[in-house]
Amino acid sequence: MVLLEPAATAATPFSQRVQHCFGRSAAAYGAHARLQAAVAERLARLLRIHASALPAGARADLGAGSGLLARAIERHLGGAPLLRLDSCQDLLLQDAREPTAPPQRLWDLNQGLPPELQGAVLLGSSFALQWLEQPQRALQLWCEALAPGGVLALAVPCAGSFGLWHQACQRAEVPFTGLQLPQADALISLAGSRLRLRRAERLQFSRPNRGALAFLRQFKAIGAQASRGPRLSRGQLRRLEQHWPAEAAHVGWEVLVIVGQSAP
Ligand SMILES: C[S@@+](CC[C@H](N)C(=O)[O-])C[C@H]1O[C@@H](n2cnc3c(N)ncnc32)[C@H](O)[C@@H]1O
Repeated sequence: MVLLEPAATAATPFSQRVQHCFGRSAAAYGAHARLQAAVAERLARLLRIHASALPAGARADLGAGSGLLARAIERHLGGAPLLRLDSCQDLLLQDAREPTAPPQRLWDLNQGLPPELQGAVLLGSSFALQWLEQPQRALQLWCEALAPGGVLALAVPCAGSFGLWHQACQRAEVPFTGLQLPQADALISLAGSRLRLRRAERLQFSRPNRGALAFLRQFKAIGAQASRGPRLSRGQLRRLEQHWPAEAAHVGWEVLVIVGQSAP
Protein backbone atom coordinates (compact mmCIF):
# COMPACT_ATOMS: atom_id res chain seq x y z
CA MET A 1 0.00 0.00 0.00
CA VAL A 2 1.36 3.43 -0.88
CA LEU A 3 1.04 6.48 1.29
CA LEU A 4 0.88 9.79 -0.45
CA GLU A 5 2.74 12.92 0.41
CA PRO A 6 0.43 15.97 0.61
CA ALA A 7 2.15 17.40 -2.46
CA ALA A 8 4.16 15.52 -5.07
CA THR A 9 7.38 17.03 -6.39
CA ALA A 10 9.68 16.10 -9.28
CA ALA A 11 11.69 13.95 -6.83
CA THR A 12 8.63 11.89 -5.81
CA PRO A 13 8.65 8.39 -7.36
CA PHE A 14 6.62 8.24 -10.54
CA SER A 15 3.91 5.90 -9.20
CA GLN A 16 3.22 8.27 -6.31
CA ARG A 17 3.04 11.23 -8.68
CA VAL A 18 0.51 9.27 -10.75
CA GLN A 19 -1.65 8.71 -7.66
CA HIS A 20 -1.29 12.31 -6.62
CA CYS A 21 -2.44 13.64 -10.01
CA PHE A 22 -5.40 11.25 -10.24
CA GLY A 23 -6.32 12.02 -6.63
CA ARG A 24 -6.45 15.77 -7.19
CA SER A 25 -8.82 15.43 -10.14
CA ALA A 26 -10.86 12.51 -8.79
CA ALA A 27 -14.07 14.50 -8.28
CA ALA A 28 -14.04 15.63 -11.93
CA TYR A 29 -13.05 12.25 -13.42
CA GLY A 30 -16.58 11.08 -14.18
CA ALA A 31 -17.50 14.27 -16.02
CA HIS A 32 -14.42 14.25 -18.28
CA ALA A 33 -13.53 10.58 -18.87
CA ARG A 34 -15.75 10.16 -21.92
CA LEU A 35 -13.27 8.09 -23.93
CA GLN A 36 -12.71 5.79 -20.94
CA ALA A 37 -16.48 5.39 -20.48
CA ALA A 38 -16.96 4.49 -24.17
CA VAL A 39 -14.13 1.96 -24.10
CA ALA A 40 -15.39 0.38 -20.85
CA GLU A 41 -18.80 -0.07 -22.45
CA ARG A 42 -17.29 -1.64 -25.57
CA LEU A 43 -15.12 -4.02 -23.56
CA ALA A 44 -18.09 -5.12 -21.46
CA ARG A 45 -20.16 -5.76 -24.62
CA LEU A 46 -17.35 -7.92 -26.01
CA LEU A 47 -17.32 -9.86 -22.76
CA ARG A 48 -21.03 -10.57 -23.13
CA ILE A 49 -20.27 -12.11 -26.55
CA HIS A 50 -17.12 -14.03 -25.59
CA ALA A 51 -17.41 -14.76 -21.88
CA SER A 52 -21.04 -14.96 -20.91
CA ALA A 53 -20.82 -18.37 -19.16
CA LEU A 54 -18.00 -17.93 -16.67
CA PRO A 55 -17.72 -20.24 -13.67
CA ALA A 56 -18.13 -18.75 -10.19
CA GLY A 57 -14.97 -17.21 -8.77
CA ALA A 58 -13.07 -14.00 -8.15
CA ARG A 59 -13.71 -11.14 -10.61
CA ALA A 60 -11.83 -7.87 -10.51
CA ASP A 61 -11.27 -4.54 -12.27
CA LEU A 62 -7.53 -3.75 -12.12
CA GLY A 63 -6.79 -0.02 -11.93
CA ALA A 64 -10.54 0.45 -11.56
CA GLY A 65 -10.47 4.15 -10.70
CA SER A 66 -14.06 5.28 -10.26
CA GLY A 67 -15.32 1.86 -11.45
CA LEU A 68 -16.38 2.58 -15.06
CA LEU A 69 -15.36 -0.85 -16.35
CA ALA A 70 -16.55 -2.77 -13.26
CA ARG A 71 -20.01 -1.20 -13.52
CA ALA A 72 -20.22 -1.81 -17.28
CA ILE A 73 -19.30 -5.48 -16.79
CA GLU A 74 -21.86 -5.85 -14.00
CA ARG A 75 -24.52 -4.35 -16.27
CA HIS A 76 -23.68 -6.65 -19.19
CA LEU A 77 -22.78 -9.90 -17.41
CA GLY A 78 -24.72 -9.61 -14.15
CA GLY A 79 -23.45 -11.54 -11.13
CA ALA A 80 -21.73 -10.34 -7.99
CA PRO A 81 -19.96 -6.94 -7.98
CA LEU A 82 -16.35 -6.99 -9.18
CA LEU A 83 -13.55 -6.20 -6.75
CA ARG A 84 -12.19 -2.74 -7.60
CA LEU A 85 -8.39 -2.47 -7.20
CA ASP A 86 -6.61 0.84 -7.44
CA SER A 87 -3.77 2.75 -5.80
CA CYS A 88 -5.76 5.98 -5.72
CA GLN A 89 -8.08 6.18 -2.72
CA ASP A 90 -9.82 9.33 -3.96
CA LEU A 91 -10.87 7.68 -7.22
CA LEU A 92 -12.08 4.55 -5.43
CA LEU A 93 -14.16 6.81 -3.19
CA GLN A 94 -16.00 8.16 -6.23
CA ASP A 95 -17.45 4.68 -6.66
CA ALA A 96 -18.06 4.08 -2.96
CA ARG A 97 -20.52 6.97 -2.84
CA GLU A 98 -23.20 4.83 -4.45
CA PRO A 99 -25.88 3.52 -2.04
CA THR A 100 -24.27 0.06 -1.73
CA ALA A 101 -20.50 0.35 -1.66
CA PRO A 102 -18.87 -2.24 -3.97
CA PRO A 103 -15.85 -4.29 -2.80
CA GLN A 104 -12.65 -2.30 -3.13
CA ARG A 105 -8.97 -2.71 -2.39
CA LEU A 106 -6.33 0.03 -2.24
CA TRP A 107 -3.48 -1.73 -4.02
CA ASP A 108 -0.37 -0.87 -6.01
CA LEU A 109 -0.40 -3.03 -9.15
CA ASN A 110 3.37 -2.57 -9.47
CA GLN A 111 3.50 -5.13 -6.64
CA GLY A 112 1.67 -7.77 -8.70
CA LEU A 113 -1.80 -9.04 -7.77
CA PRO A 114 -3.14 -9.70 -4.26
CA PRO A 115 -3.29 -13.40 -3.28
CA GLU A 116 -7.09 -13.59 -3.51
CA LEU A 117 -6.90 -12.96 -7.27
CA GLN A 118 -4.75 -16.03 -7.98
CA GLY A 119 -7.21 -18.29 -9.81
CA ALA A 120 -9.55 -15.42 -10.79
CA VAL A 121 -12.23 -16.17 -13.38
CA LEU A 122 -12.35 -12.62 -14.74
CA LEU A 123 -9.72 -9.90 -14.75
CA GLY A 124 -10.68 -6.66 -16.46
CA SER A 125 -8.55 -3.56 -16.87
CA SER A 126 -9.06 -0.41 -18.88
CA PHE A 127 -6.68 2.53 -19.36
CA ALA A 128 -4.51 1.45 -16.41
CA LEU A 129 -1.75 -0.90 -17.66
CA GLN A 130 0.19 1.95 -19.30
CA TRP A 131 0.76 3.60 -15.90
CA LEU A 132 2.62 0.63 -14.46
CA GLU A 133 6.41 0.42 -14.27
CA GLN A 134 6.54 -2.76 -16.39
CA PRO A 135 3.34 -3.14 -18.41
CA GLN A 136 4.47 -6.34 -20.14
CA ARG A 137 5.48 -8.02 -16.90
CA ALA A 138 2.18 -7.00 -15.29
CA LEU A 139 0.20 -8.36 -18.26
CA GLN A 140 2.08 -11.63 -18.01
CA LEU A 141 1.22 -11.93 -14.30
CA TRP A 142 -2.44 -11.16 -15.02
CA CYS A 143 -2.63 -13.88 -17.69
CA GLU A 144 -0.94 -16.38 -15.40
CA ALA A 145 -3.27 -15.60 -12.48
CA LEU A 146 -6.39 -16.72 -14.37
CA ALA A 147 -8.16 -19.96 -13.43
CA PRO A 148 -8.50 -22.53 -16.24
CA GLY A 149 -11.12 -21.07 -18.58
CA GLY A 150 -10.76 -17.66 -16.90
CA VAL A 151 -11.00 -14.50 -19.01
CA LEU A 152 -8.88 -11.38 -19.36
CA ALA A 153 -10.50 -8.22 -20.75
CA LEU A 154 -7.97 -5.48 -21.42
CA ALA A 155 -8.04 -2.03 -22.96
CA VAL A 156 -4.89 0.05 -23.11
CA PRO A 157 -3.80 3.07 -25.14
CA CYS A 158 -0.78 2.15 -27.27
CA ALA A 159 2.22 3.65 -29.02
CA GLY A 160 0.30 4.52 -32.18
CA SER A 161 -1.43 7.33 -30.25
CA PHE A 162 -0.70 11.06 -30.40
CA GLY A 163 1.21 11.29 -33.70
CA LEU A 164 0.30 14.97 -33.80
CA TRP A 165 1.73 15.63 -30.35
CA HIS A 166 5.02 13.86 -31.23
CA GLN A 167 5.18 15.82 -34.48
CA ALA A 168 4.62 19.13 -32.68
CA CYS A 169 7.36 18.35 -30.16
CA GLN A 170 9.81 17.61 -32.95
CA ARG A 171 8.92 20.79 -34.83
CA ALA A 172 9.15 22.89 -31.65
CA GLU A 173 12.29 21.09 -30.43
CA VAL A 174 10.78 20.47 -27.00
CA PRO A 175 10.73 17.12 -25.14
CA PHE A 176 7.68 14.89 -25.43
CA THR A 177 6.18 14.86 -21.92
CA GLY A 178 3.51 12.22 -22.46
CA LEU A 179 3.75 8.61 -21.28
CA GLN A 180 5.75 6.17 -23.39
CA LEU A 181 2.84 3.95 -24.33
CA PRO A 182 3.30 0.20 -24.86
CA GLN A 183 3.56 -1.32 -28.35
CA ALA A 184 0.30 -3.06 -29.30
CA ASP A 185 2.11 -5.85 -31.20
CA ALA A 186 4.17 -6.82 -28.18
CA LEU A 187 1.11 -6.98 -25.91
CA ILE A 188 -0.89 -9.00 -28.45
CA SER A 189 1.93 -11.48 -28.85
CA LEU A 190 2.42 -11.79 -25.09
CA ALA A 191 -1.28 -12.34 -24.39
CA GLY A 192 -1.54 -14.68 -27.41
CA SER A 193 1.27 -16.86 -26.07
CA ARG A 194 -0.64 -17.45 -22.81
CA LEU A 195 -4.33 -17.16 -23.72
CA ARG A 196 -6.69 -18.04 -26.54
CA LEU A 197 -7.41 -14.65 -28.01
CA ARG A 198 -11.14 -14.23 -28.59
CA ARG A 199 -10.62 -10.66 -29.70
CA ALA A 200 -7.57 -8.47 -30.31
CA GLU A 201 -8.27 -5.18 -32.03
CA ARG A 202 -6.68 -1.80 -32.31
CA LEU A 203 -9.34 0.86 -32.14
CA GLN A 204 -8.71 4.33 -33.48
CA PHE A 205 -10.38 7.18 -31.61
CA SER A 206 -10.09 10.78 -32.59
CA ARG A 207 -11.01 14.15 -31.16
CA PRO A 208 -11.16 17.48 -32.98
CA ASN A 209 -7.80 19.24 -33.03
CA ARG A 210 -8.28 22.43 -31.00
CA GLY A 211 -4.60 23.19 -30.46
CA ALA A 212 -1.89 22.28 -27.96
CA LEU A 213 -3.36 23.82 -24.83
CA ALA A 214 -6.82 22.32 -25.25
CA PHE A 215 -5.22 18.98 -25.99
CA LEU A 216 -3.01 19.01 -22.88
CA ARG A 217 -5.87 20.30 -20.69
CA GLN A 218 -7.95 17.18 -21.31
CA PHE A 219 -5.28 15.03 -19.58
CA LYS A 220 -5.20 17.37 -16.62
CA ALA A 221 -8.99 17.32 -16.37
CA ILE A 222 -8.93 13.60 -15.48
CA GLY A 223 -5.63 13.65 -13.56
CA ALA A 224 -3.71 11.84 -16.31
CA GLN A 225 -0.93 14.42 -16.66
CA ALA A 226 1.85 12.77 -14.60
CA SER A 227 5.06 12.71 -16.60
CA ARG A 228 8.37 10.92 -16.07
CA GLY A 229 10.30 13.97 -17.27
CA PRO A 230 10.35 17.59 -16.11
CA ARG A 231 7.41 19.84 -17.00
CA LEU A 232 7.74 22.12 -19.99
CA SER A 233 8.76 25.68 -19.19
CA ARG A 234 6.45 28.52 -20.25
CA GLY A 235 8.73 29.22 -23.20
CA GLN A 236 8.69 25.59 -24.31
CA LEU A 237 4.91 25.47 -23.97
CA ARG A 238 4.62 28.59 -26.14
CA ARG A 239 6.86 27.00 -28.78
CA LEU A 240 4.76 23.82 -28.67
CA GLU A 241 1.63 25.90 -29.25
CA GLN A 242 3.23 27.74 -32.17
CA HIS A 243 4.37 24.52 -33.84
CA TRP A 244 1.23 22.49 -33.18
CA PRO A 245 -0.01 21.25 -36.62
CA ALA A 246 -3.14 23.40 -36.96
CA GLU A 247 -3.81 21.88 -40.40
CA ALA A 248 -4.70 18.47 -38.92
CA ALA A 249 -8.40 18.03 -38.20
CA HIS A 250 -8.07 15.41 -35.45
CA VAL A 251 -5.85 14.10 -32.68
CA GLY A 252 -5.87 10.33 -32.42
CA TRP A 253 -5.69 7.55 -29.84
CA GLU A 254 -4.83 3.95 -30.64
CA VAL A 255 -6.48 1.73 -28.05
CA LEU A 256 -5.73 -1.98 -27.96
CA VAL A 257 -8.60 -4.16 -26.82
CA ILE A 258 -7.97 -7.79 -25.94
CA VAL A 259 -10.35 -10.47 -24.74
CA GLY A 260 -8.53 -13.74 -24.05
CA GLN A 261 -9.31 -16.96 -22.25
CA SER A 262 -6.97 -19.36 -20.51
CA ALA A 263 -7.06 -23.00 -21.55
CA PRO A 264 -9.77 -25.03 -19.72
C1 LIG B 1 -7.09 6.66 -16.65
S1 LIG B 1 -7.49 5.94 -15.11
C2 LIG B 1 -8.54 4.61 -15.64
C3 LIG B 1 -9.52 4.23 -14.58
C4 LIG B 1 -10.60 3.25 -15.02
N1 LIG B 1 -10.04 1.96 -15.32
C5 LIG B 1 -11.36 3.80 -16.20
O1 LIG B 1 -11.31 3.20 -17.28
O2 LIG B 1 -12.00 4.84 -16.03
C6 LIG B 1 -6.00 5.05 -14.67
C7 LIG B 1 -6.16 4.35 -13.34
O3 LIG B 1 -5.01 3.54 -13.09
C8 LIG B 1 -4.72 3.66 -11.70
N2 LIG B 1 -3.33 3.29 -11.45
C9 LIG B 1 -2.23 3.88 -11.96
N3 LIG B 1 -1.13 3.29 -11.46
C10 LIG B 1 -1.56 2.32 -10.62
C11 LIG B 1 -0.90 1.37 -9.80
N4 LIG B 1 0.43 1.32 -9.73
N5 LIG B 1 -1.64 0.52 -9.07
C12 LIG B 1 -2.99 0.57 -9.11
N6 LIG B 1 -3.68 1.46 -9.86
C13 LIG B 1 -2.96 2.31 -10.62
C14 LIG B 1 -4.99 5.11 -11.41
O4 LIG B 1 -5.09 5.39 -10.03
C15 LIG B 1 -6.28 5.33 -12.17
O5 LIG B 1 -7.40 4.99 -11.42
